[in-house]
Amino acid sequence: MADARNSESLGKRCYNWLDQRTGLGSLMHEALDEPIPGGARWAYVFGSVLLFLFISQTVTGIFLALYYVPTADHAHTTVAYIVKEVTGGSFLRSLHAWGSSAVVIVLILHLTQTFLYGAYKGRREVLWISGCALFGLMLAMAFTGYLLPWDQKAYFATTVGTNMASEVPWIGSMLKRFMRGGNEMGTLTLSRFFVAHVFILPAIILGFIASHVYLFRKAGAAGPPSEHPIEPKLPTERFYPKQVLMDTAVALIMICVLGLLSHFYPTELGPQANPADTQYVPRPEWYYLPIFQWLKYFKGPLAVVGIVVIPALTAVLILALPFIDRRLERRPWKRPIAVGIYFAILGTLITFGLLSKREDRLDPAIAKQVAKQNEETEQFMRAPFEPEAAASSLSAPAVVVALDPVAAAGKKVYDAESCDACHGENGVGTNVGPKLAGATAQKSAEELTKLLRHPTEKMLAGEMKAVNVSDEELKALVAYIKSLK
Ligand code: HEC
Repeated sequence: MADARNSESLGKRCYNWLDQRTGLGSLMHEALDEPIPGGARWAYVFGSVLLFLFISQTVTGIFLALYYVPTADHAHTTVAYIVKEVTGGSFLRSLHAWGSSAVVIVLILHLTQTFLYGAYKGRREVLWISGCALFGLMLAMAFTGYLLPWDQKAYFATTVGTNMASEVPWIGSMLKRFMRGGNEMGTLTLSRFFVAHVFILPAIILGFIASHVYLFRKAGAAGPPSEHPIEPKLPTERFYPKQVLMDTAVALIMICVLGLLSHFYPTELGPQANPADTQYVPRPEWYYLPIFQWLKYFKGPLAVVGIVVIPALTAVLILALPFIDRRLERRPWKRPIAVGIYFAILGTLITFGLLSKREDRLDPAIAKQVAKQNEETEQFMRAPFEPEAAASSLSAPAVVVALDPVAAAGKKVYDAESCDACHGENGVGTNVGPKLAGATAQKSAEELTKLLRHPTEKMLAGEMKAVNVSDEELKALVAYIKSLK
C-alpha cells in the first residue's frame, strides 16, 4: 500500500515538476477538452485522420529519403534499390504511394462533410480558406512526388503536366522553365521537384495545418447541421475521450487498409525514363484523370480556357463560398441549390475520370501501347536489381575490350545482324526489344541457341525473326550474349 502511494506520488511529483516548467497541464486541457456541441460523431473523424495520414506520409517519406538520390542518372536506380533490395522497402514505398491516394480520398470526405454540415458558416471564412489552401498544397505534393521515381510513367506524365503551364498567358513559358529548371526535363527538374516535395511544401503545409487547427479551435466545433453556427445551444461533450477514441479507431482501420493494400498490391516501378521514347502514352494518377479528360475538350486556342480560365474561376468560387453563401441555415435539405451544385461537380469529376478510362480502353492503338507499357513494367519488376544500369552502358567499350575472341566475333555477328536495332548497343535494351544483358545473359548456351533458332511466339510478335547464320557464328553470338551478364 505504502509503496503504491509512494510511486503514485512520485509520478504525480514528476508531472507537477514538468507542468510547472512547461504548462503541460493547460496544454493537454487545450488539446483534449474542446467542447463539441451535440457530442462526438463518426462524421467528425476526417480531420484527425488527415493529420494522421500526414504524419504517416512524413515517416515513410523520411525513410525513402534515406536511400533516394535526386539526379536523373541515379534516381531510378535508388528507387529500384528500395523496391528490390531493401528489406521492407517495397512495402514502405507502397505505404507512401497508397497513402497519397488515401490523403486525396479523405480530403474529399472531409470537404464533403464540412460542406454538407454547412460547417463553413458563421465566422469560419478564414478557416475555410486555410482548408482550401491545404487542399491545393496536397495536390502539389502529389504532383511533385509523382516525378521522383523517374520511371517512364513519372517522366512522361510530368512532361505533360509541366507543358500545361505554358498555356498560362504571358508568363506561360517562363513558368514552365521555372518548374523544369530549363527547357528540358532533367536533373534540374528532379532536384526542383525533390526540394519542393521534401522541404518547401511540407514546411508550408505544416504552417497551414497549425493555422487550420488554431482557427478551428477559435471558431469552435460546429456540431450537427441543426446547430446554430455562431451560438451553439446543444449540450456539449468534450473531445476527449469519445471523439479521440473514434478518431483513433478510424486511423487504426486506415493503417490496416494501407498495410493490406501495400502488401497485396505493391506499387510498381517501371523501366527508367527514356526521353527518346516517342511512343509512350502518359497517364496521370487517378485523381488527376478528371482534369486530364477535361483538357481533351479544349484544344488549340481554347486550351487557355480549359487550363487557366475555368479552373481559376472555379478556385475563386470555392474560396469565396463562405462569402457568397451568407445564410446561417446549415441543414443540407434546406440548401438544395448549394448541395445540388456540390454533387453535380463531384459527379462530373467522377464521370470525367471514368470517361478517360473508357476512351483508353476503346482506342485499340492506345490500349495496345498501354498493355505494352504494363508488360514492360512487369518485366522490369521481375528482373533482379542491377546496380547502376546506366554506368554499365557507359563503360560498355571497356566490356568489349575484355571479351574473349569468340565473344568478340559474336559481337560482330550481333551488329551485322542488326540485333542492336532492337536490343540496343551491347544488349542494353530499347523500347522495342528487351535488355539482353543481365537475366537473358544468364540463361544457358543451349537455351539461348534454341531461342535464337526457334523464337518464341512473343519474340515473333515483337518482330524478331529466327537467326539465320552458320552454326559457328551462332555459337559466337551466344558466347557474346553470355558475356553481357
Ligand atoms: C525487330 C526487333 C528485334 C530484333 C531485330 C531482334 N530481336 Fe531479339 N527480341 C525482340 C523482342 C521483342 C523479344 C522479346 C519478346 C518477349 O519475350 O517479350 C526478343 C527476345 C530475344 C531474346 C530472348 C530474351 C529472353 O530472355 O527471353 C534473345 C536471346 C534475343 N532476342 C536475341 C536477339 C539477337 C541475338 C538478335 C539479332 C540476331 C535479335 N534478338 C534481334 C526483338 C528483336
